[in-house]
Amino acid sequence: MKTLVVYYSRTGTTDKVAKQIASQIDADIFELATKVKFPTDMSATSDLSKKQYQTNEFPELVVIPKIAEYDRVLIGSPIWNGQLATPIVSYLNQQVFTTQSVAGFCTSMGSVGEAESQFNQIAQADKIKAGLFLDSGVVSDVQISQWLAR
Ligand SMILES: Cc1cc2nc3c(=O)[nH]c(=O)nc-3n(C[C@H](O)[C@H](O)[C@H](O)COP(=O)(O)O)c2cc1C
Repeated sequence: MKTLVVYYSRTGTTDKVAKQIASQIDADIFELATKVKFPTDMSATSDLSKKQYQTNEFPELVVIPKIAEYDRVLIGSPIWNGQLATPIVSYLNQQVFTTQSVAGFCTSMGSVGEAESQFNQIAQADKIKAGLFLDSGVVSDVQISQWLAR
């Protein structure tokens, strides 16, 4: 099975987990970037993302990956205010998964809120598998393999 790991990371935690997952299963990896970078300041990022949710205007991405050759896409997001980071909303609004199975994962500082049901609602895919919504910024290789075996 050919897998692509797609993720957004503002401060490197989701990046690390995405790379751990990809190296464990020998997957390709694609980091999403926004046309306008998010502020380095956490509360400024929080204000901006709240505004994006309120106005339903999510950040423009530089480019999204081509997924035709993949059987499975794993999508990683930080948690922002109990929800998916807004660049991941942009991604899920744009990318249509035709034959691919899809699963989300996230990193957080302890409270993942409703992010998994949000993910399941907005992903444009018929085959959505259980996610790995972490209440921390670290994961073990065992957790990853148990998740992907489900
Ligand atoms: C604006 C903002 C809001 C956040 N809200 C939450 C939250 O609701 N719950 C939580 O557990 N962590 C929250 N965090 C922490 C991040 O989810 C966590 O540090 C994550 O691992 C960062 O990923 P990254 O380094 O890939 O950007 C928030 C961080 C930011 C910047």
